[in-house]
Amino acid sequence: MTTWLTDEFVDRVRSESDLVSVISTYVPIKRKGKQFWGCCPFHNEKTPSFAVTPDKGFFYCFGCHAGGDVFKFISMIENISYREAIIFQGEKLNIPLPERTRSPEEAAREEKLKRLREAHELAGKFFHNCLTLTKYGAAGLAYFHSRGINDNIIEEFNLGFAPDAWDKLTTAFAKRGIDTGLLLESGLVLKRQKGQGEYDRFRNRVMIPITDERGRICGFGGRVIDNGSPKYLNSPETVLFNKRKLLFGLDKAHRAIGQEGFSLVVEGYMDVISVSAAGVKNVVASLGTAFTMDQCKKLLRYAPAIYFCYDSDNAGQEAIARAIDIAAGTNAIIKVVQLPDGKDPDEYIRRHGVDAFRQVVKGALSVVDFRLKHIMAHSDVSGLEGRLRVLAEMLPVLASIRNTVERSAYVSKVSQLLSVSENDILAELGKKSRRVSDKSTSVRTMRSVVRQVDDAGRRAGRTVIRMVWDEPALLEHFSSLVPIGSLPDPIHRQILTALMEKYREGEAIRDITGLAHLGDEAVEELSRAIVEDLGEEDRSLLYEACVRQLRRNYLVSQYEVHSRNAEELYRQGDAKYLEELAISQKIKKEMDELQGVNY
Ligand code: CTP
Ligand code: MN
Repeated sequence: MTTWLTDEFVDRVRSESDLVSVISTYVPIKRKGKQFWGCCPFHNEKTPSFAVTPDKGFFYCFGCHAGGDVFKFISMIENISYREAIIFQGEKLNIPLPERTRSPEEAAREEKLKRLREAHELAGKFFHNCLTLTKYGAAGLAYFHSRGINDNIIEEFNLGFAPDAWDKLTTAFAKRGIDTGLLLESGLVLKRQKGQGEYDRFRNRVMIPITDERGRICGFGGRVIDNGSPKYLNSPETVLFNKRKLLFGLDKAHRAIGQEGFSLVVEGYMDVISVSAAGVKNVVASLGTAFTMDQCKKLLRYAPAIYFCYDSDNAGQEAIARAIDIAAGTNAIIKVVQLPDGKDPDEYIRRHGVDAFRQVVKGALSVVDFRLKHIMAHSDVSGLEGRLRVLAEMLPVLASIRNTVERSAYVSKVSQLLSVSENDILAELGKKSRRVSDKSTSVRTMRSVVRQVDDAGRRAGRTVIRMVWDEPALLEHFSSLVPIGSLPDPIHRQILTALMEKYREGEAIRDITGLAHLGDEAVEELSRAIVEDLGEEDRSLLYEACVRQLRRNYLVSQYEVHSRNAEELYRQGDAKYLEELAISQKIKKEMDELQGVNY
């Protein structure tokens, strides 16, 4: 499925795409010299750090490190894959997709999926029209209005109503000639128990279409408008509707999630609708089931932090505890929002307004604080025995804090809470930590730390990548002096190795579609290299300085290898040590010559 876009097609779409005009349809950018600058659409910022270099066809954000070419930009902002972005842009430019042959099974599967999607879209329209255009919808409208859901929100969420009758949808769809098998499969209609024919699954309910992250309807949730039961009736699982993977509202929330830096996960459909309508857009809900790892990973694509804001009843609090356990298996930064009184976010906003809600969200607790608070709330700490019992409960929480600075801060907090000395807590913790494995700092933290350390070696590596991009022939020269494998930064090694392969095969290196196997980090770093301003310095002097810097770096490691060898051989009484010594001396000499070169 992945390789059928022809090179001609991709090249044509690329060459007809104007990076600046594509980007400016989403983000205001202003020209500054050879570049355009603006506020990054992928994270929240007030001063522009998002740069576009049109003559090279790349963008890079110096704040959040997002970067790439025109297709990468589209894929990020439209929330689609790189490949889909090429097709998306091709369609915009009216460039016909290349034909290709598919296996009959593949074709049949795609056809069915397509028709199932169409049936869902049609049902969405049917329910929406029932609500907004027909007399059947009056009860539904009255219900929505009574909950403060106005007509704008009804439009935005494409809300609808299933009439109070047995077969309105069944008949309407039959008239349109829609295949009964398909309708049964979608779960929109059910087979009659007795007699022939089908009837509507959803009757006399307000209808909430559930969309995937790209806004395509995959299923429905229907709510009673009285005290009937079940309160919510949902579509059954189908090839489109996988409750463990979907998140309600994600299609409307993903950009805001990226900008705010966190997603806000609530329990109910109505919570999402209410919170989003109030202007807090980074909100989603899991679908009436427990929060899953798939959902967690999906959210982490947009922002590293997830805030859970579940109902303040017991069930809600337990659901949070489970969600935290799920998320603990990832690098997510987890926080817990606790609503002081209202039962759920929808009610809280209606009672106290959105500003109060934002305040509460701002005051979200870390997982540790949440757990400590939870333990304290259920305990009596007046006597010594009670305090010790609480301490015993808190120790595993403290032991689970990976960051040492953070852990000692909490140790001191707990010591104050329980009037127990810090040393005693640490001693208990010492016993514990021998059992708890503690070696993995989260990959994400490591990543951001590594990225911050932008030392001379890294800068030199990036400058070389840039110069090679501008002048591929330099690769030969560079790699003759600095073996690519010796570069200090693994991402740089990856980029230059990939460029080298293309160069050796005589391909144009400037096509990142051909570098599709490069990971996100490499694409980002490559974009940064290409977009970064090299200043006014003479290019050849700059290149020379970088090469020296990196060669020196290489020599240092070689020197270490050979002098270690010499020492080893000497100890073994092997006369060959003299050869190794000579090599290391030669390296040392070159190192000294390069001394004092600072880039
Ligand atoms: N849910 C469900 N089936 C039910 C009850 C609940 O699928 N019979 C799911 C729905 O996704 C619902 C969520 O669980 O949105 C939360 O349920 P609940 O807290 O009971 O509903 P609220 O969101 O508060 O709904 P409302 O405000 O409409 O009463
Ligand atoms: Mn509610």
